[in-house]
Amino acid sequence: MEKIIDENKQGESLILDHKEGNTKKLFIESYGCQMNFSDSEIVASILSNEGYNTTQKLEDADLVLVNTCSIRDKAEQTVRKRLKYYDKIKRKNPKMKVGVLGCMAERLKTKFLDEEKIVDLVVGPDAYKDLPNLLQDVDEGRDAINVILSKEETYGDISPVRLNSNGVTAFVSITRGCDNMCTFCVVPFTRGRERSRDPQSIIEEINDLWTKGYKEITLLGQNVDSYLWYGGGLKKDFENASDIQKATAVNFAKLLDLCAKAQPKMRYRFSTSNPQDMTLDVIETMANHRNICNYIHLPVQSGSDRILKEMNRLHTRQEYFKLIDNIRGIIPDVAISQDMIAGFPTETEEDHQDTLSLMEYVKYDYGFMFAYSERPGTLAGRKMEDDVPADVKQRRLNEIQALQRQHSLYRTQQHVGKVEEILVEKSSKKSDAHWAGRNSQNIVAVFPKEHYKPGDFVNVKILDCTSATLIGEAIGYSENN
Ligand code: SAH
Ligand code: F3S
Repeated sequence: MEKIIDENKQGESLILDHKEGNTKKLFIESYGCQMNFSDSEIVASILSNEGYNTTQKLEDADLVLVNTCSIRDKAEQTVRKRLKYYDKIKRKNPKMKVGVLGCMAERLKTKFLDEEKIVDLVVGPDAYKDLPNLLQDVDEGRDAINVILSKEETYGDISPVRLNSNGVTAFVSITRGCDNMCTFCVVPFTRGRERSRDPQSIIEEINDLWTKGYKEITLLGQNVDSYLWYGGGLKKDFENASDIQKATAVNFAKLLDLCAKAQPKMRYRFSTSNPQDMTLDVIETMANHRNICNYIHLPVQSGSDRILKEMNRLHTRQEYFKLIDNIRGIIPDVAISQDMIAGFPTETEEDHQDTLSLMEYVKYDYGFMFAYSERPGTLAGRKMEDDVPADVKQRRLNEIQALQRQHSLYRTQQHVGKVEEILVEKSSKKSDAHWAGRNSQNIVAVFPKEHYKPGDFVNVKILDCTSATLIGEAIGYSENN
């Protein structure tokens, strides 16, 4: 679910529909996962009630907020560089205030105020509703910080402003936090315990998006398959819930079903699934609804049983294969993508070969691949030496990426010659005469624009492909219009 970031570019900044009467200017940019981008929309919504409209010009801003990522060291370094750049701007505009949001805020807490003199405000992922009070502190010349993690907060009552939007696709968050405690991962520490959002508020948000013309929703969570609503509270306390709460609980399969039925013409995706929490009723629900896309992001991290165990991933290689076989048995044309980590502590050449052979078995459609980065505070960071040399990590990563490229090409080639339903999103980056959209399997397709427009579902004959893109021509509207 992660966005790959070019370090030399600024994070995506947001454009807000300007609210009449707002005079202060907010520049907000986001790094890291889709959840951060979605959270920034919540923050912009909260601040629009505090007199702020967003600006795309950093130089003009009264308040600069950066929503940060801690997942790997490199992500943190990117933000540190951005802060240096803000420093230069602040010299020209001394009134400008700077705040840090997100996972780095949560991880570093007051250290941020000590280490980065430019920072006035530090706010963790569960404390955004406190921003109006914190800004008051800043205005009165005090440093402001709130990094308290919550057992309840889901921001279900806040209607996010849709920023930087193509008007066709949107994210809707359904869970926050993660209880899985993979030993390499900082997320459980920065985003807290897992909690689910009231399905009613999810459906209301989706209905609202439909009336505004949106056609595709991605349901977001660190671990969507463990979604569980029984009236509020932490997932781990479900055992103590009442009989009525247990009988009326909504799990992820049920939620998908509710969403698919609430708006039968809306297209749905979801991210991310942890294999250990994915159940067959989710796959069956996908198969039962044509408006749930045939695409599953199913990170495995490693193909070695020993390393999976060290990572606290609670399934074996064989169980993963079984899951893949079951998924493909129920949804034959499903696309599956992976996240993979090269060079986890103690990883041997044999473990690495196991990863490559697992990839050969699955032949993923797409992948996000990373060199292991030790994160302070995680179990692996505390208990295991980061003992795979950097050059070995890099070589293994290169091998994994090269194999993935082959598999991606193989998979996209299977679409050539077929007619597929594409939801038009925007102009192709390479050609203004072409639309770009995605098929059910999440592969980007481009085709000549003709009379079609963003938001149309179009049947496209696929004529050619690269490893990442399908090239085709429209043959008419699909029945979904
Ligand atoms: N459940 C999350 C996973 C978050 S992190 C989600 O919804 O995306 C995204 C990916 O980053 C992980 O799947 C993993 O492959 C990678 N990652 C996490 N911690 C890492 C670390 N310490 N070093 C390298 N890669 C890491
Ligand atoms: Fe991280 Fe594992 Fe949760 S990768 S987000 S601890 S599922």
